[in-house]
Amino acid sequence: MASNDNRRVVAVADPAALAIAAAERFLARIAASSKRAAICLTGGSSPKRLYQLLATDFYRSRIPWDRVHWFIGDERLVPAGDPLHNMTMARAAFLDQCAPASNVHAIPTATADPADPDRSAALYEAELKSFYGADTLDRGRPLFDLVLMGVGPDGHTASLFPGYPEVEEAYRWVVGVPRANVEPFVPRVSLTLPTLASCREMLFEVAGADKRGILTRVLAGENLPAGRAASIGETVWLVDQAALPGDFRGH
Ligand code: 6PG
Repeated sequence: MASNDNRRVVAVADPAALAIAAAERFLARIAASSKRAAICLTGGSSPKRLYQLLATDFYRSRIPWDRVHWFIGDERLVPAGDPLHNMTMARAAFLDQCAPASNVHAIPTATADPADPDRSAALYEAELKSFYGADTLDRGRPLFDLVLMGVGPDGHTASLFPGYPEVEEAYRWVVGVPRANVEPFVPRVSLTLPTLASCREMLFEVAGADKRGILTRVLAGENLPAGRAASIGETVWLVDQAALPGDFRGH
């Protein structure tokens, strides 16, 4: 384990151990919240194993589903049901079986004009503000209990791509991203860095040798969205051995 400000790198053996460690952190954050809990999920392939684990009896029976609300940090601007749709993946893996429908807060893409992802972004921003009960984020009262994140090959996180103006957004909670920097090349909608930061814990999941290069750059402090993403509370990078940069081996 190593530390850098409020960021900790936690090494685990492999993707199976990664999913278990992440599931246990979910449970701990939910248990620590006295009333309703808010979890912001992520897309990509990395979280799928975790999502499937949450639907197993062992985890399913330990989650108070009625008081947990599920959000998503970014979405691809395709209709729900499309294989590229992030919330559809999470629904299929666990939410549809376990969570009350009214506790699942998807980014609306059904009527979205692909040329105008800002429309979806504005709708989701309104939903987040309504859930939070205020129009400005208070550091003493985080929006989310936990925000799950991944890192892409170019150092993006959520749909905040390196060098894109959306990374610098300081006012809006959610933004449209008309053009993705990596596949799939569909318009995106993304929570901004200040919105993602408004959480008690930000949890990155990183696995596989193909992630080691970008993770090395992020942890070395390069100016990349994934490196700039941090919680106002605790930021944890859960990393498996294959992805772990040399400097962090042995921790
Ligand atoms: C998306 C994601 C994105 C993802 C990373 C890592 O919509 O694509 O939310 O930010 O987390 O690209 O993706 P993998 O887990 O597939 O490597």
